[in-house]
Amino acid sequence: MKAKIPRIASSEITSPELYADRRRFMQLTAGASLASLLPTGLWAADKLPSTANPAYLLSEKTTPYKDVTTYNNFYEFGTSKEDPARNAHTLKTRPWTITVDGEVKKPKTFDIDALLKLAAMEERVYRLRCVEAWSMVIPWLGYPLAELIKQVEPTSKAKFVEFITLDDPAQMPGELSQVLAWPYTEGLRMDEAMHPLTLLTFGLYGEVLPNQNGAPVRVVIPWKYGFKSAKSIVKIRFTETQPVSSWMQAGPREYGFYSNVNPSVDHPRWSQAKERRIGEFFKRETLPFNGYAEQVAGLYAGMDLQANF
Ligand code: MTE
Repeated sequence: MKAKIPRIASSEITSPELYADRRRFMQLTAGASLASLLPTGLWAADKLPSTANPAYLLSEKTTPYKDVTTYNNFYEFGTSKEDPARNAHTLKTRPWTITVDGEVKKPKTFDIDALLKLAAMEERVYRLRCVEAWSMVIPWLGYPLAELIKQVEPTSKAKFVEFITLDDPAQMPGELSQVLAWPYTEGLRMDEAMHPLTLLTFGLYGEVLPNQNGAPVRVVIPWKYGFKSAKSIVKIRFTETQPVSSWMQAGPREYGFYSNVNPSVDHPRWSQAKERRIGEFFKRETLPFNGYAEQVAGLYAGMDLQANF
């Protein structure tokens, strides 16, 4: 992955106050009656009601909506940061199902609209640190993946979870290139998947996910490099053996299974000690586990994190 950092005017950075105003405005226009009077495209995304979870508020500024939705990695729609916002309109997000199978007692196919109602929708502000050494702060909407996992009752053999993205070159023109092995797959260890921070994600900034951010459903694992957060998921499979992700296949020495954010383990081609927060000029120190060490370091007690990068 190559890092390309856009220059962003300070006027484009959303202050927390402005964000609160935007949220209030969206609540006022919820129900779409006023929204439908606005010119097409201005409020194209549907609102997604949620309750802010105070345990996951950050004092750091949220990254402007514009950057969150126009500076993306989603190789199914092209490899440059601007490609997904430009190309992802071809993705059809209804009808949509997620099939959950493998080492579970109750395999099940969830319709996306049922999945949206499976648990209480929360707003959580998380840092997202990309392996390319840039980061954002995003108000995500979702609920813990553990809620879905409980429904299917994993067997004692279920040690890992694999996420599988939609594979359809007719909707995803980037799949015509061989840059990665399609479908895009990622994986977690069972305890990581069950961790309360791991979010099954349906929206951001009060709205359903824009296509370029992984509509209609993705995961967000905030203590790991962003590529672990698979987008547009159609399958979740429970396995006994550790799955091999698309990035591990593409560069086994560069992209490990764990990929926990770790400033003291460099990528073979660049340092991971610092990062550029999109919208800021000066680099900031990268924090172990992306600042979530208190919650997750215990999952890796006794493990060599240099070897298990
Ligand atoms: N999921 C799929 N299916 N395809 C991808 O190319 N890119 C990953 C991850 N999930 C990717 C994906 C990478 S490298 C990052 S940094 C994040 O999505 C970016 O998420 P965002 O665009 O919502 O910020």
